Amino acid sequence: MRLPSLSWMNRISLALTLLCVASFFLPLPAQKKFSAALVLVSYLSFCLQTLRRHNEELATQHQGFSAELNQANAQSIMIVYASQTGFAEQIAVKTAQHLQDAGMSVAISSLAAIKVETLSKTSRILFILSTTGEGDAPDNAAAFTRLVMNQKIDLSHLHFAVLALGDRHYQQFCAFAHRMDHWLKHQQAHSLFDMIEVDNGDEGALRHWQHYLGLISGHTEMADWSKPGYQDWILTERELLNPGSLGGPAYRIACIPAQNAGSNDYVWQAGDIAEIGPDYPPEANAVNNTGERPALPHREYSISSLPADGKLELLVRQMHRPDGSLGIGSGWLTAYAEIGQSIKLRIRENRNFRAPAQDCPLILIGNGSGLAGLRAHIKARASHGHLHNWLFFGERNEAHDFFHREEILAWQTNGVLNKVNLCFSRDQAERRYVQHAIQEQQADILKWVEQGAAILVCGSLQGMAEDVHQTLSNILGLDTLESMAELGLYRRDVY
Ligand SMILES: Cc1cc2nc3c(=O)[nH]c(=O)nc-3n(C[C@H](O)[C@H](O)[C@H](O)COP(=O)(O)OP(=O)(O)OC[C@H]3O[C@@H](n4cnc5c(N)ncnc54)[C@H](O)[C@@H]3O)c2cc1C
Ligand SMILES: Cc1cc2nc3c(=O)[nH]c(=O)nc-3n(C[C@H](O)[C@H](O)[C@H](O)COP(=O)(O)O)c2cc1C
Repeated sequence: MRLPSLSWMNRISLALTLLCVASFFLPLPAQKKFSAALVLVSYLSFCLQTLRRHNEELATQHQGFSAELNQANAQSIMIVYASQTGFAEQIAVKTAQHLQDAGMSVAISSLAAIKVETLSKTSRILFILSTTGEGDAPDNAAAFTRLVMNQKIDLSHLHFAVLALGDRHYQQFCAFAHRMDHWLKHQQAHSLFDMIEVDNGDEGALRHWQHYLGLISGHTEMADWSKPGYQDWILTERELLNPGSLGGPAYRIACIPAQNAGSNDYVWQAGDIAEIGPDYPPEANAVNNTGERPALPHREYSISSLPADGKLELLVRQMHRPDGSLGIGSGWLTAYAEIGQSIKLRIRENRNFRAPAQDCPLILIGNGSGLAGLRAHIKARASHGHLHNWLFFGERNEAHDFFHREEILAWQTNGVLNKVNLCFSRDQAERRYVQHAIQEQQADILKWVEQGAAILVCGSLQGMAEDVHQTLSNILGLDTLESMAELGLYRRDVY
């Protein structure tokens, strides 16, 4: 410990003390010795106070330092790549740059340099991994797979995400990234969001990755790496689905293509995503240094209708930014764009959220705007005559938030939905969410899964998706749930 340096006050006091101490050894009257003792006691108490003040100062500095350190940890992240021909490395550098521009502290490393100790000391890692050969790890990942992935390590402190680069022409698509994802989960590491697969450099999947980089860094306004090839659509309908709700307003949005309605560009399947190109609100005056408005980043929305409906529908929750203004994408769709106006939209294929083609039972689980993706699936199941379907849906109050109520009740009456469990969290004293209904229905869940059921989950990542995953793994066992995921029988579209 470093001692406090003596101020001139302390020096005078020290001299006084020495004088006092010396006075005890001098032949002086008792009264004088008593006064000297008083001076000595007051000096010692002065010294103690100074020392205490100094220690408090040190403690305060320490507190400030650890608060900064905590902040730095929350804002710091490691990016690890394994690359054979350089693409994963290139995306890793772009990812690092993106997060740095958003104010985060970023470390970047090849998987070759990662040891057990690195994993033990790091709290957040984004893995960007390609696959080579026939489902093999890139050459420079060989040491890691041999020395680290063969071990059992406690990684319960680690939060991670995986961007998987591959090519669907190969039989074992993104196999190395899958092996890593599986291994990390078995070491108790927590995934920040589901693995994103990039087929042959697909820019849409890379924009999806960027969506999560925005959430991680808290900066969702960063420009897209590549602008989607939007088409012109016309906004035709906007309907408020939850008047009087305690939650944010949620709208059914409908649009139709501006032209070439027969083109393949306008065909989609249940599970697919609409990438929207938002525009500025009418009163906005943001310009960059060239005097132009920078292009706003895309936003993704689950498509909630089928082409057979003759329109593309979305279910959009209006969001607010920290400064109180409306969210870039949800504000554009729910407030600023006018009916009849042209909007930029691109359909993104989302193979990871497809239901099995065969007529197996299907359990659909979602909350809030997550009903969008499930609605398209229920419509598709009805159109194929696949009628073994069970819906779990959660919102706040039945009186205000039962989105698409008439449609859901009609599906129940005409046998498209065999079972429906609704959880309105605020309709009773105790909060009740979909995971609670799933838990109560565990016997039937087991029965349905034994009969070959698939499970689709759509909606919020925070809260719902994690708790549903935990509840399902308690009921079915983590191994069963993982095997279901590998077979395409457990799929999630959560955000
Ligand atoms: C695959 C996918 C499907 C989606 N489907 C739908 C859908 O069907 N309906 C729907 O309403 N939304 C959906 N979203 C979310 C949507 O893309 C936007 O993130 C959302 O509308 C907010 O964007 P914004 O531009 O309005 O708000 P922003 O301007 O980005 O931000 C507004 C505020 O909200 C915060 N925020 C943004 N996104 C989230 C989030 N996901 N969780 C918590 N806070 C957030 C921001 O940090 C900011 O404080 C989906 C997202 C993904 C990735
Ligand atoms: C020789 C070779 C073998 C490949 N094998 C696979 C494979 O088994 N599975 C897969 O999903 N992708 C495979 N790919 C595709 C790559 O993973 C993909 O092109 C990736 O973007 C390359 O990233 P990289 O440049 O970082 O290595 C292969 C590519 C090459 C050239």
